[in-house]
Amino acid sequence: MIPVLTIDGPSGVGKGTVARVIAQKMGWHLLDSGAIYRAFALAVESRGIDITDERALEQIAQNLDLSFKTHKDSELVSVYLDGEDVSKTLRTEKTGAMASKIAAIGVVRTALLKRQQDFAVMPGLVADGRDMGTVVFKNASFKVYLTASSMQRANRRLKQLQAQGHQGIIAQILAEVEARDARDSSRKHAPLKPAKDALIIDTTELSLDEVIAQVSKLVKA
Ligand code: DC
Repeated sequence: MIPVLTIDGPSGVGKGTVARVIAQKMGWHLLDSGAIYRAFALAVESRGIDITDERALEQIAQNLDLSFKTHKDSELVSVYLDGEDVSKTLRTEKTGAMASKIAAIGVVRTALLKRQQDFAVMPGLVADGRDMGTVVFKNASFKVYLTASSMQRANRRLKQLQAQGHQGIIAQILAEVEARDARDSSRKHAPLKPAKDALIIDTTELSLDEVIAQVSKLVKA
């Protein structure tokens, strides 16, 4: 059996960083499922597809030309869509919001399911997203659900933006975080929620190292 660790949670909770560090520690593969939804949203936008056209969405999802490149000595992962490096555009809040809207459509999720499951190869996989433990890897060996107050997540996002030399308004970031939470949690298909057998970690008062220590302990146990 291929060991899989799923890390789900709302936007800005730090799933991506935790997943990357644990994958590196364990020498396992990494699936950033949000990047797949984000790239899909970019593909839909660049092709000018109407998001009510489910057949067209399904076709794009089935033929998505997407690849990931991990850099040896850094934590960075580059994402290529139709052969073009879209890593920067992928990370913007605009793309995140678009992805969140398109990800609520059932046919899109079904069409992208196998592509995600194919990441589970030896020696193991760390997968982060919204429905990794509840839908995509229901039988995963280890499941974690990270949570934190929306204010804390908005603050972390603001710091991240500032570190990249950008400006941000906390009230606006908080509103975006909460709007995305509401959409991802209330949708009909694979809503954001902890799997019944997930270890829930509230990271509001924890440092990154403390979160990593708790997750490492679970996997090693
Ligand atoms: O994790 P992220 O911010 O990169 O994800 C962007 C959006 O993609 C998120 O708001 C909802 C959607 N998504 C999803 O529906 N299911 C996943 N497993 C991952 C992301």
